[in-house]
Amino acid sequence: MPLKKELRFQITVYEDLNELAPKDQALMLQAVSARKNAYAPYSNFRVGAAVSLANAEIVIGSNQENASYPSGLCAERVAIFHAGAKFPNVSVNTVAITAASDNYEVTSPAAPCGNCRQAMYEYEFKQKQPIRLLLMGETGSIIECSSVDDILPLGFNSSFL
Ligand code: THU
Repeated sequence: MPLKKELRFQITVYEDLNELAPKDQALMLQAVSARKNAYAPYSNFRVGAAVSLANAEIVIGSNQENASYPSGLCAERVAIFHAGAKFPNVSVNTVAITAASDNYEVTSPAAPCGNCRQAMYEYEFKQKQPIRLLLMGETGSIIECSSVDDILPLGFNSSFL
C-alpha cells in the first residue's frame, strides 16, 4: 500500500504592524523604506525586503526591473544576495517583505515567488537554522512563516548533489 503523508505548516497572522514585536516592526519599516528604491517602471509593483542577521546587521533589497524582463530581479533575491555578499558567514534570522503598487493599494501580504523561495531556501539549508519570514502588503495584515522550508515543501537542496 502506498503511504499517504500529510504535510502541514502553521502561520501567524498579525492584524497590523502594531501587533508585531518592536524588533520586527523596525525590520518591516526598513523593508518599507527599501521598497521606495524599487526600480519598477514596467510592473509598477514595488517590493522591499529587509534581512536581519545574527550579527544584528540589517541588509535591504528592492526589486530591480529591466527592459529585458527576465534580467530583472525580485527584492527578496536582491536582499538575500546582498546579505550573502556582505556577510558571507553570518546566519539570517528573519526576512521582512512588503509589496505596494502604483496602481492600487496592496492590502494583503504578497508571498515570495518560487525562485525567491528557492534562493532563500539555499541559505536556510546552508545555515541549518530556519529563516523566519514576515510578509506584508502596503496595508493590512502581516503573515509570519517560521521557515522557508514551510513554503517550499519537498525543496531541492545540495544534499541531492
Ligand atoms: N517581485 C518581487 O520583487 N518579489 C516577489 O516576491 C514577487 C514579485 C517583483 C518582480 C517584478 O519586478 C515585480 O515584482 C512584478 O512581478
